[in-house]
Amino acid sequence: MITGATSGLGQQLASLAALRGADVIVAVRSPERAERTRLMLEDLAPRGTISTVHLDLTSFDSVQAALAEIHERWDSLDVVVNNAGVMAIDEALGPDGFDLTMTVNHLSATLLSVGVIDLLERSSAPRLTFTSSVVHWLSRLRPGLLGEAPSPYRRWVAYARSKEANLATALELDRRARDANSPLTILCAHPGVAATHLGHEGHGLSNLVMRSLGPHLLPTAQQGAASLAEAAFTDSYPGGSFVGPSGLFAGSPHRARVSAYAADPRHGREVLDRTLALIDAQLVFNLRTS
Ligand SMILES: NC(=O)c1ccc[n+]([C@@H]2O[C@H](COP(=O)([O-])OP(=O)(O)OC[C@H]3O[C@@H](n4cnc5c(N)ncnc54)[C@H](OP(=O)(O)O)[C@@H]3O)[C@@H](O)[C@H]2O)c1
Repeated sequence: MITGATSGLGQQLASLAALRGADVIVAVRSPERAERTRLMLEDLAPRGTISTVHLDLTSFDSVQAALAEIHERWDSLDVVVNNAGVMAIDEALGPDGFDLTMTVNHLSATLLSVGVIDLLERSSAPRLTFTSSVVHWLSRLRPGLLGEAPSPYRRWVAYARSKEANLATALELDRRARDANSPLTILCAHPGVAATHLGHEGHGLSNLVMRSLGPHLLPTAQQGAASLAEAAFTDSYPGGSFVGPSGLFAGSPHRARVSAYAADPRHGREVLDRTLALIDAQLVFNLRTS
């Protein structure tokens, strides 16, 4: 299951999975783009099935509805890729009252992830991945303020915080999964930079620059997806790894550096605990039985 598979890196990941013959679930917010993506993937996928699930990460209600649908339709999941995201958007709160960037990129992604752990644990070698960014290095997220927008609002700070929350959460979830002897492997990856639709929304100068120059200057989505695919679809890296391109912005997948801030287990614990409180969710791992 891949979130945000209608565009950019998510579409590349879904295509790679389909080409490998996987049964792919694309969890996306627009019914029209879902259908277009399904048809595109079916052309690529002679062996696997392509299914769509409606998921709007803007609201916790939509995530809960998606979780109900997923549990009704599937008994287990092998791989869940948290890829959907927004970057440098205009200041806004989601319907649950939290900063919209943090809601879409981190809070809802964590709600979805925690809600599918039971399905993942029924699979033989399950993997759960999150998508972060090199900009996580710029974040000094205070867990107590996790749901609040930067004040005064700065779109890149909001994005950096959400990507640091993704990374700190992935690392902490993996620590807790291992403590619980869960079969689940949890990793984080980043693509470097890639020409996608990311950053095109919004009325800031940087959005204008991204829209006009990004497509001409940045590596392709296919290049960017390589590290995300390595984390999600291979067992080259153990749980708790951060996978990214060998160069700062591009290159072949390797183990990327995590900021000391995001790597700090105490910080990870605080970020995850605060997140679970805001999304009103409980983390339950099952013991490995074999
Ligand atoms: N591209 C880069 O340089 C770069 C660098 C570092 C990290 N990343 C990360 O890579 C991930 C993918 O980004 P991308 O570059 O592929 O961007 P993209 O082309 O803009 O794709 C983003 C995807 O997320 C979906 N999405 C956005 N808001 C959503 C919501 N509320 N609910 C459900 N889905 C939503 C979009 O759906 P719609 O089609 O409906 O809009 C789209 O499928 C993001 O997490 C981003 O932070 C990207």
